[in-house]
Amino acid sequence: MSLLEIRDLRVVYPNGLEALKSVSLTAEAGEVIAIVGRSGAGKSTLLRCINGLQSPTSGSIRLEGRELTTLTTRELQAVRRRIGFVWQEFNLVDRLPVITNVLCGRLGHAGEGPSLLGYFDRSHREIALRNLERVNLLERADQRADRLSGGEKQRISIARAITQEPTLILADEPVASLDPELAWQVMEDLARVAREDRLLALINIHQVALAKHFVDRVIGIARGSVVFDGPIKDFDDAAMTRVYRFDKPAIPAHPIEMEEALHER
Ligand SMILES: Nc1ncnc2c1ncn2[C@@H]1O[C@H](COP(=O)(O)OP(=O)(O)O)[C@@H](O)[C@H]1O
Ligand SMILES: [Mg+2]
Repeated sequence: MSLLEIRDLRVVYPNGLEALKSVSLTAEAGEVIAIVGRSGAGKSTLLRCINGLQSPTSGSIRLEGRELTTLTTRELQAVRRRIGFVWQEFNLVDRLPVITNVLCGRLGHAGEGPSLLGYFDRSHREIALRNLERVNLLERADQRADRLSGGEKQRISIARAITQEPTLILADEPVASLDPELAWQVMEDLARVAREDRLLALINIHQVALAKHFVDRVIGIARGSVVFDGPIKDFDDAAMTRVYRFDKPAIPAHPIEMEEALHER
């Protein structure tokens, strides 16, 4: 049994758009995987299905052997505790201290005792502080989150995600809002902590040139279908063309993305 098993996943949005056609993939604990593809390829839709934010039209998603597509709301909440999410726009609570933001990762674990912010017991706090240290931001613990740079905010959100002690981390364009040097540090931290904790990390990212330094495997999606799935060393020019080819000019490609894709070739 693989940690994550997706079979024939199909998503048709209410407006009739088929965002995922028949996606199948399996992934194991400890793998750091980049999901690449043009804007609109279906990457976010895929992550949202795994996280239960989007119901698939058909198909199956199994996490640790458990079918996710048929869960009740309550069961889904329990499964979501096993899934850390890292968003492009960080989703921190700006006016709260960094440590409290990281402690939010413990909300699902707080048990019967008071779990209101500020009332986490010592063991939760120790986990949060240790994880802040792992992204080299321990000295920022008591600062307000909005005092941090974008790169630091994203590393805090990584610390929050691992503080959840998940089995799976989903990151949707985690470095898309960051300058290149900051993006490098964020990818470095994300890949390192995922490997240290033997998590599965699925990272939606369109900068292939950056991703290849940090991931083991690439899944390329084009127009709702997986068109490449293999180790990063096999992601060659031909694979790149399959994922990023511009043979369907009906919707103009995003100019920046087109430029990046061409530049990376
Ligand atoms: N809620 C929605 N309703 C209708 N179409 C959507 C919705 N969300 C995304 N789409 C469309 O589905 C396709 C895949 O989108 P998305 O998964 O966001 O792609 P990506 O993350 O690769 O850019 C795109 O054509 C997008 O416009
Ligand atoms: Mg997206």
